[in-house]
Amino acid sequence: MSGLEARPGVLRLAPYVQGKSSLAGVDSPIKLSSNESSQGPSPLAVQAYLHGAGTLNRYPDGSQRELREAIGQMHGLDPDLIICGNGSDELIQLMVRAYVGYGHEALLSENGFVMSNIHCIAQGADLVIAPEKDYRVDVDAMLARVTDRTRFCTIANPNNPTGTYITGDELRRLHAGLPGHCLFLIDDAYAEYVTAADYSDGADLVDEFDNVVMTRTFSKIYGLPSLRIGWAYCPAGVFDVVQRIRTPFNTNGPALAAAVAAVRDRDYMLAVRRENAAWRDRISARLTALGVEVIPSQANFYLIRFDEASGKSGAGAAAFLQSRGIIPRPAAGSDQYLRITIGLAEENEAVLQALGEYMGTHR
Ligand SMILES: Cc1ncc(COP(=O)(O)O)c(C=O)c1O
Repeated sequence: MSGLEARPGVLRLAPYVQGKSSLAGVDSPIKLSSNESSQGPSPLAVQAYLHGAGTLNRYPDGSQRELREAIGQMHGLDPDLIICGNGSDELIQLMVRAYVGYGHEALLSENGFVMSNIHCIAQGADLVIAPEKDYRVDVDAMLARVTDRTRFCTIANPNNPTGTYITGDELRRLHAGLPGHCLFLIDDAYAEYVTAADYSDGADLVDEFDNVVMTRTFSKIYGLPSLRIGWAYCPAGVFDVVQRIRTPFNTNGPALAAAVAAVRDRDYMLAVRRENAAWRDRISARLTALGVEVIPSQANFYLIRFDEASGKSGAGAAAFLQSRGIIPRPAAGSDQYLRITIGLAEENEAVLQALGEYMGTHR
């Protein structure tokens, strides 16, 4: 034995468990467990990706210039404050590595992107987790937990697995109650799906304050999770810090090319958003009619709750859906809930049919 040991924070972690993607004995299951885009990427993004295959012998553009400019132009943001990453997950990790360490507290909401928690634990920070109210981030509960050790605060907006959001005013109030030395990271992985008028992605806060960062991704509405591209919009000081620890070629060439085409194809993205919103409403109405509680979602998935007294459960519904070739995502730590991604029309119909059977006949 050499005595080699990882840092204590790392040893506190268990490996991440991915959403299930196969079912024994089912050739092509309906996979609704990972909040992927059922409609896939823009055909222009696929074309750009294939074109990128012609230059695999070259390193990609480490400055990510073309993609940063395309994102900047399409979102009305300064490209010099945009950093792209190997998924937004990498950017969250870089921010945490740069700003969070032993003795610090990371303030998180009960739900959210679990990788944020993992990165903070790995850095040796203490997690302070605020409960949610009505499945939403509770700004007061978070602010009540701020201490002078709070160095990092993040929420996912919309949140995962609830699909709920907080308004632009609430986001601003949360930031206003954080100390200036606390980095506030707004994880907007599902922002493009939001149709609520009082939502804000928080880019205005990034413009105003030097401790706010917004992260976005091409993994969700743009349908490119396999290519691992996310981006962060950050103040100049944070940009400078993260560039110091970012590996030079963290995003690969064909992925950068596909993302440029995807973000420029705004009509395609808007069509996906419209279709998703229409199904979100339809599914919610039909499940409610079946007696299933649907948490109001602004994302491309919905969380459903089963009343224990009814003898139904999330686990029971999951098993029933799987027997019909459908893979949902059971909610961690509770038997009452189930999260299901919004799929293609026929996939959603299959879910509604199966849940109807489960509610009507299955005890
Ligand atoms: C809330 C949230 N944030 C961030 C991510 C990470 O996305 P990616 O690393 O693919 O950009 C996910 C992925 O599911 C998510 O649900």
